[in-house]
Amino acid sequence: MSADAYKPGLEGVPATQSSISFVDGKQGILEYRGISIEELAAKSNFLETAYLLIWGVLPTQEELDEFEHEIRFHRRIKYRIRDMMKCFPESGHPMDALQASAAALGLFYSRRDLENPAYIRAAVVRLLAKIPTMVAAFQLMRKGNDPVQPRDDLGYADNCLYMLSEQKPDPLAARIFDVCLTLHAEHTINASTFSAMVTASTLTDPYAIIASAVGTLGGPLHGGANEEVIAMLEEIGSVENVRPFLQQRLQSKAKIMGFGHRVYKVKDPRAIILQGLAEQLFEKFGRDQYYDIAVELENVVAEELGHRGIYPNVDYYSGLVYRKLGIPTDLFTPVFAIARVAGWLAHWKEQIEQNRIFRPTQIYTGQHNVAYTPMAERL
Ligand code: ACO
Repeated sequence: MSADAYKPGLEGVPATQSSISFVDGKQGILEYRGISIEELAAKSNFLETAYLLIWGVLPTQEELDEFEHEIRFHRRIKYRIRDMMKCFPESGHPMDALQASAAALGLFYSRRDLENPAYIRAAVVRLLAKIPTMVAAFQLMRKGNDPVQPRDDLGYADNCLYMLSEQKPDPLAARIFDVCLTLHAEHTINASTFSAMVTASTLTDPYAIIASAVGTLGGPLHGGANEEVIAMLEEIGSVENVRPFLQQRLQSKAKIMGFGHRVYKVKDPRAIILQGLAEQLFEKFGRDQYYDIAVELENVVAEELGHRGIYPNVDYYSGLVYRKLGIPTDLFTPVFAIARVAGWLAHWKEQIEQNRIFRPTQIYTGQHNVAYTPMAERL
């Protein structure tokens, strides 16, 4: 095979057919099952959107009520998982804790029955229900506290915030958090989704698939960028320092976190919605100096890099929103994972319905017929 066929990062190479979501990176369009992200953010909620992604249609009221009910009553985690998590080091990253605990679910629910819709549904419900509980459990236990139990009287987003903060959240904060989950629920065949699909193509269990995707999401070039954005805004420190900071970054050829995207060459539509949510939060709970720094940095990056299609991506404003919601910085990516579980599960279901194991090829660049060098002769 010719080396020209090789596309680093598989850029532009179709690796699947999918009807789950659609991105137009030039026009800044994102649709889930054909519905625009703007419409879903305004009119839907996370669980309804998850249902849409996974089963391909909007649920009737009865179907949605049943789905929400099932999830509400599967939120608790087994005490053995909690006890296992107690042994995790407090200094460990919450994404690593989440990856390990998601994988551990497979120990309890290992029976694989991929032909059975009831098995698929039970796995979907369990994962959507339990991942937030595991994120919150690690957060409280690393502070030396017992994890709080999920509250059956609270909706999905309200309960997530409650478990993280041990306080019933403000309704605006809960609604905004729910919209954030909707915005992060799915995004075509990105690195973590591809990882989920490759793992799914071996017909392994869904807990191993989610663990694999969580591990992939954690990297700073993917979901981990939202943490790095906050660190960068803190390092900049003031609006006056934005230009000097950017110049120094550009000179050293360092990336500006929260900018750029393989597909979007305009501002990510999710970043536009997230910026609006950040403004609503600041209006109600007080403005944040880091927001002014972020807006100035966006303007200056547009001057310097806009002609190359480098604009804010989803991670740029999400950190500011999460910070205002009181979520610790190193939980930003686990919160992303809570949402993206919906998309990963949708791709799992689609993958096994049209499965062929992933087995790409490679262009070998090594040597042949190399003689084995005895230890004594090695330099
Ligand atoms: N800051 C400065 N320059 C950038 C940036 C950026 N954020 N992003 C891309 N570029 C430049 C690169 O330096 C490169 O320049 P060159 O051609 O002179 O070498 C060119 O644009 C292409 O960049 P690549 O990294 O090759 O683009 P790719 O499509 O592979 O990567 C990625 C996309 C990883 C998102 C990249 O833009 C990046 O690293 N951004 C910062 C990290 C980030 O915000 N990640 C979150 C992405 S969204 C998500 O995963 C949820």
